[in-house]
Amino acid sequence: MTSFQYMPPLHKQSFKTGEVALVGAGPGDPDLLTLQAFRFIKQADVVIYDRLVSQEIMALLPSNCERIYVGKKQAAHRVPQENINKLLVEHAKLNKKVLRLKGGDPFIFGRGGEEAQFIISQGIACHIVPGITAASACTSYAGIPLTHRKVARSCTFITGNMQDNGALDLPWQTLNDPEQTVVFYMGIKSLPTITKQLINAGRCKNTPAALIRKGSHVDQQVVKGSLETLEALVTLHNIKPPSLIVIGNVINTFADVQLQNLGYLAPE
Ligand SMILES: C[S@@+](CC[C@H](N)C(=O)[O-])C[C@H]1O[C@@H](n2cnc3c(N)ncnc32)[C@H](O)[C@@H]1O
Repeated sequence: MTSFQYMPPLHKQSFKTGEVALVGAGPGDPDLLTLQAFRFIKQADVVIYDRLVSQEIMALLPSNCERIYVGKKQAAHRVPQENINKLLVEHAKLNKKVLRLKGGDPFIFGRGGEEAQFIISQGIACHIVPGITAASACTSYAGIPLTHRKVARSCTFITGNMQDNGALDLPWQTLNDPEQTVVFYMGIKSLPTITKQLINAGRCKNTPAALIRKGSHVDQQVVKGSLETLEALVTLHNIKPPSLIVIGNVINTFADVQLQNLGYLAPE
């Protein structure tokens, strides 16, 4: 058995040259950055960043900070992970303070674990700073609690990203509890499979469901329907990535008039 004693993690310590900080930038709204993330952003010599880091957050970087984009380009594939790993290490070896900035939380569907493993395998110190993950922030900004007493006792975050062969092999039978909220990341492309498989697994086709696009950004879109109507809603409202699919009875926790009172919906 291994037991660990608490010690202040590296991210509590100062950011030195020759080190990498792997920082979660949250879902977009700069107000959702942690103070730790803000501190590292302000000190970076070079930032290696993804598509989901908002422009408002990029604007917080020092003006002389070098910016390297490694996200997906239009109609092209993302920079291979090995190249990103190498870039991080190369810049640290040039004695820079290297900021690896990622949308949401680096350890939730963010390959943060892989990057940290590589960085430390090269003998380089790596600070890890959590961020608010999309599922948490986007639902809050849409007035949807992820769990709610007597409505949802559990919540699952799951990827809708298909394998290279187009398959989506997920444990569907574990997602059919009516008191469970399910949040799909990267699921817009595979939505027809998701809805079909959930219904086949026993989830009622009338289960409330929502699509949240660009959550926490000024142009956030929230569309609500049911498991059965989701696919048509994607087409009707032209929902594109980055979007989350949220499934479960929690979606109807607040009536529209209450959402207006809470400031989530504009009064009619
Ligand atoms: C590669 S994953 C990265 C997740 C990220 N590490 C996190 O913790 O939120 C990208 C997916 O996250 C979701 N996502 C991230 N930011 C979002 C946002 N602001 N609004 C809606 N979905 C978002 C989308 O499903 C998107 O396709």
